[in-house]
Amino acid sequence: MLEGVYLCLPCVLTNKNLPQMVAAPKNPTLAAFEGIATYVASLQALAYLPISSSTWKARCHAALNGEANQELRRKIPLDTRRLYGAFFTGTKLSRLLLSHSKSVSAESFFYDPTCGMGDLLLAAASLLPLQETPSATLRAWGRQLAGADLHQEFIDGTKARLALLAAERHGVEGISATGHVDHFPLIQVGDGLIPNKNSRRATHLLLNPPFGAVSAPEGCTWASGKVTAAAIFTAATVKELAPNCEVLAILPDVLRSGTFSENWRKAISDIAEVHLVKPYGIFDASADVDVFLLRLTRRGATSKSRQWPATKRMPMRTLGDAFNVCIGRVVPYRDQKVGIEHPYIHPRCVPPWSVMSEFTETRKHQGKAFQPPFVVIRRTSRPEHPYRAVATVITGNLPVAVENHLIVCQPKDGALSSCKRLMQELKSDAVNVFLNDRIRCRHLTVGAVGDIPVSQAN
Ligand SMILES: C[S@@+](CC[C@H](N)C(=O)[O-])C[C@H]1O[C@@H](n2cnc3c(N)ncnc32)[C@H](O)[C@@H]1O
Repeated sequence: MLEGVYLCLPCVLTNKNLPQMVAAPKNPTLAAFEGIATYVASLQALAYLPISSSTWKARCHAALNGEANQELRRKIPLDTRRLYGAFFTGTKLSRLLLSHSKSVSAESFFYDPTCGMGDLLLAAASLLPLQETPSATLRAWGRQLAGADLHQEFIDGTKARLALLAAERHGVEGISATGHVDHFPLIQVGDGLIPNKNSRRATHLLLNPPFGAVSAPEGCTWASGKVTAAAIFTAATVKELAPNCEVLAILPDVLRSGTFSENWRKAISDIAEVHLVKPYGIFDASADVDVFLLRLTRRGATSKSRQWPATKRMPMRTLGDAFNVCIGRVVPYRDQKVGIEHPYIHPRCVPPWSVMSEFTETRKHQGKAFQPPFVVIRRTSRPEHPYRAVATVITGNLPVAVENHLIVCQPKDGALSSCKRLMQELKSDAVNVFLNDRIRCRHLTVGAVGDIPVSQAN
């Protein structure tokens, strides 16, 4: 945790006079992170105003390992962090991501277009060589590390933390600096979605963008309506890179495993060679979202496009071979209660792991109702729960209206026995293991359910 005295910013640390490398954001709602400015000033003081102190090493270590994230959580409301997607990557995950690089060298040029407080840039800098003196190291790193973020506090924090890393690696307690020195002129406030010189120069693009839902931009060829901002950032930034630039990204798992993200995966593999697609699990304790690691290289204009690597399919029968799989058709808040009165089911009224033949609710519904027998699986499914695909068999004579938080599996042979066998199989460890690998996010998809391996009997 933070200790010591907060000092005023020395003029050496301001970067008002520096050239803008990226366009300024159109909507400067930039006071959002003011609450962390005092902490950032303390980082700058720690880095640039060396004071002999027995606690310097410990404070520097904390500043480089998780303290910035803790301070952000402590000082900035969750709503604000969500609005801007401000969730910083921990040291372990940042280093793991960089360890997948196949091409880092002493000359590499790293660019993080949404750099936050610089965690990915720190992992990159820890792979760059030291020069003879701390100042010479900073000058070299300053030519090789570029970044953008909407928020000045984060940019200042990134620069201070990089200086701290240089000091720590040189074994000195702070960097002596006089006059107007900005060691990192290529790390600037700006909109990472706007192409700039750094994207074209980069040998390595580092990416952990915001994950929030935004509208797909006009003219987007791979999505319409709402989409995760991470998909947009990846597509927009990869497009601008020079051929062979290596991309190392942390992205929401839904982009790896979601059926709806298929067009995005195709768009990415059209412009880049996909080398690594690796599920990671939950991002961290504060951001409860599953992520995966992605390594790409930007294709040249003439290189042939290849497919996104197929998700491993077992050489056996799948649920989709034996059942027609789809989402329930009732959207309660949207659909009018008109048409035929049907028995009605939703996740709260179907008893898990049972055969349901009597219905407590009915509902008028104009759209498709499903003729039993069939199996329903709850779409909400957490990797840490004992069962990923919680099922119920539905029987009876009348077509049933099914809410859209349930996935319907209708046996192609029309047999109740097939439904009961499937329900039993869905309770197995094998299905949990399969789904945990296939889809880490909280909502099962039709594609993932259809790919579940089932026994030949089904
Ligand atoms: C998930 S955080 C990751 C930060 C850093 N890359 C890391 O891994 O720790 C995303 C960052 O993107 C920034 N951001 C959001 N929209 C942006 C935009 N249009 N241009 C640049 N940065 C943006 C947020 O302020 C936030 O710091």
